Amino acid sequence: MEEKIKELLGKMTLEEKVGQMNQYNGFWDVTGPPPKVGNPKVKYEHLQKGWVGSVLNVAGHENVREFQKMAVEGSRLGIPLLFGMDVIHGHKTLTPIPLAEAASWDLQAIEKSARVAAIEASARGINWTFAPMVDISRDARWGRVMEGAGEDPYLGALVGAARVRGFQGKDLAAEDTIAACAKHFAGYGFAEAGRDYNTVDIGTSTLYNIVFPPFKSAIDRGVKTVMNAFNLLDGVPATGNEFLQRDILKDKWGFQGFIVSDWASLAEMTVHGFARDLKNAAQLAVNAGSDMDMESSAYITYLCELVREGKVTENTIDDAVRRILRVKYELGLFDDPYRYCNAGREEKLIYHPDHKKAALDIAKKSIVLLKNKNHLLPLDKNQPKIGVIGPLAGDKNSPLGSWRLGSDDNTAVSLLEGLKEYTHEIRYAKGADLVVGKASFIEEVEVNTTGKSGFKEAIELAKASEVVIMVLGEHGFQSGEGRSRTRLGLPGVQQALLEEVYQVNQNIILVLMNGRPLTLTWADEHIPAILETWHLGTQSGHAIAQVLFGDHTPGGKLPMTFPRDVGQVPIYYNHYNTGRPTPEQEVFWSHYIDESNQPLYPFGYGLSYTTFAYSDLTIDDTEDTLVVSIWVTNTGERAGEEVAQLYIRDRVASIARPVKELKGFHKFMLMPGESKKVEFSLERDELGFYNLQGDYIVEPGLFDVWIGTNSQEGLQGSFELKEERVKEMWSK
Ligand code: GLC
Repeated sequence: MEEKIKELLGKMTLEEKVGQMNQYNGFWDVTGPPPKVGNPKVKYEHLQKGWVGSVLNVAGHENVREFQKMAVEGSRLGIPLLFGMDVIHGHKTLTPIPLAEAASWDLQAIEKSARVAAIEASARGINWTFAPMVDISRDARWGRVMEGAGEDPYLGALVGAARVRGFQGKDLAAEDTIAACAKHFAGYGFAEAGRDYNTVDIGTSTLYNIVFPPFKSAIDRGVKTVMNAFNLLDGVPATGNEFLQRDILKDKWGFQGFIVSDWASLAEMTVHGFARDLKNAAQLAVNAGSDMDMESSAYITYLCELVREGKVTENTIDDAVRRILRVKYELGLFDDPYRYCNAGREEKLIYHPDHKKAALDIAKKSIVLLKNKNHLLPLDKNQPKIGVIGPLAGDKNSPLGSWRLGSDDNTAVSLLEGLKEYTHEIRYAKGADLVVGKASFIEEVEVNTTGKSGFKEAIELAKASEVVIMVLGEHGFQSGEGRSRTRLGLPGVQQALLEEVYQVNQNIILVLMNGRPLTLTWADEHIPAILETWHLGTQSGHAIAQVLFGDHTPGGKLPMTFPRDVGQVPIYYNHYNTGRPTPEQEVFWSHYIDESNQPLYPFGYGLSYTTFAYSDLTIDDTEDTLVVSIWVTNTGERAGEEVAQLYIRDRVASIARPVKELKGFHKFMLMPGESKKVEFSLERDELGFYNLQGDYIVEPGLFDVWIGTNSQEGLQGSFELKEERVKEMWSK
């Protein structure tokens, strides 16, 4: 392949090389500010000149074939196009939003979900997805937390690798595998105040130990592309950041694929005040290692000139083009540019029953039981007089979540439809609208904050019901890109509706549909059963109904902390100890005068319909490995899945380490009364950290270790890691 690339490169004019570095948006969907420059006519001409390397947001085998034909048959060298799209959690059949999937802690199911997405996307001509998003975030105000795997780098790294495996499969040239894209490099999830596109200002240890690991995991897994981020990092935009793109990604980590900019992030370097103008932005970005320009038209307009002026070397151009051509070869596009345009596959595979089955499976596994007082759940299948209240109960769009570009409207199974599979005793009252007016991927959602005319009917229904299922939360487009919130409560009049229904009937099951952690302190104090169902995708209603009626016992665990109050945010489990962590007589310790430091629900938290007991934590420091084990018993009457989590604390180190770090988990089913010994080995990869020079090191000393059902509950042990053991770990 390298030989072929070298030969092709040798034939290309400078314009044709630069053309490969140019990505245009298609003419159907925009996922960013609609392009102000350029017009379809110009774009078509560039396609025919071979001055376009990729297009995004073009899907459907006919559309793709049309574009591909123009490039392959219309241009001198006939280099095929990459067709990129945001296939974030499914394409037509939608799986749960990624934050929900992370709550399943089921890496096989997550890989399967990405596999299904790749099969449907490739059937419609897409050969590159802008996923997995692997940005760690600790701030639920940021709307894009729905798109990632939460606050923890260990879980985030495993989830990211699983999704890359699912998208890219074993053979990238196969017609049902697509190139993946780890994004957004780097630090985007740390936008200040949770406000999207805001400044990022984080320390070196956070960068190396929290932000980088999921990206490194995706690179090690062979992800073919990386997308850089909109934000500054230490005053330098990621798109123009040589440290990020060349020193770390391409040199230190040996990344062989290519980096695509985020939408117009190249042009935005002028807005940041980092580039003088678009030409200067092109020069800074390409020299910093940004290989492909999404929708700025900066490269196609200025790179040839910059090379002629000696401000950019042709070697720099050749390196970028080589990387892009490599991915096209690996996708098999030079063998058959129309490989992904097979009409038969689209008809056969879109919405395939196997995909619905996979979507249902991961949806059930993503549900987290937050509270279940007096075992109100699961419901008896003969339960009479069930009243369902809330705007999201009948909603067939919101459960599809945000980032559902390719999907069809109203294709989610609503909870009402799911419940009707169990009983026709269901009576429904919406209670209130969640939003007023239109709501779409690129339009603001207007929340209903006054309309309470439906309350009366809802309260009457509650009075006449034995059990009330309240379905509340966020509209599908109240989270996602450009959807930051300053408050994290139930939007609009929903909290008032919940409290007024509670006045007449306390037997409430609160079913939440939301794209981010919410503040639920009132509900936690008053409502007996609370089920976190996120936005579960196409099979949402069936998954939730099966959990409500006990055909599936919930086993999800929170991948992100739920705060008591937005004022605590950012709040996360793997925090530093600080110098004043514990209450003193006076006020001089790290706390608030108006709220606890504790979250409402911690990272890793989730209940079951059964109960689990942990016993006999043992640490075996044998001659060549360190094994920590524990016994887990199902002490309830139902079979159930548990995620046993292992956390460590490196008590003293050359840079302070967090009070807890997830370094292992096992998910398993236990029958009633069954016990299981769960083992974890602690090696170099679990006990080390990155120092401020970016080197991964392991230091001897005392460690605490916990194994338990969440990040706050578990049996504790401790051990001393000796110098000779550290040496031995590195000798392996
Ligand atoms: C958007 C997002 C990015 C997405 C890209 C293309 O602005 O930031 O995640 O992949 O543009 O749609």
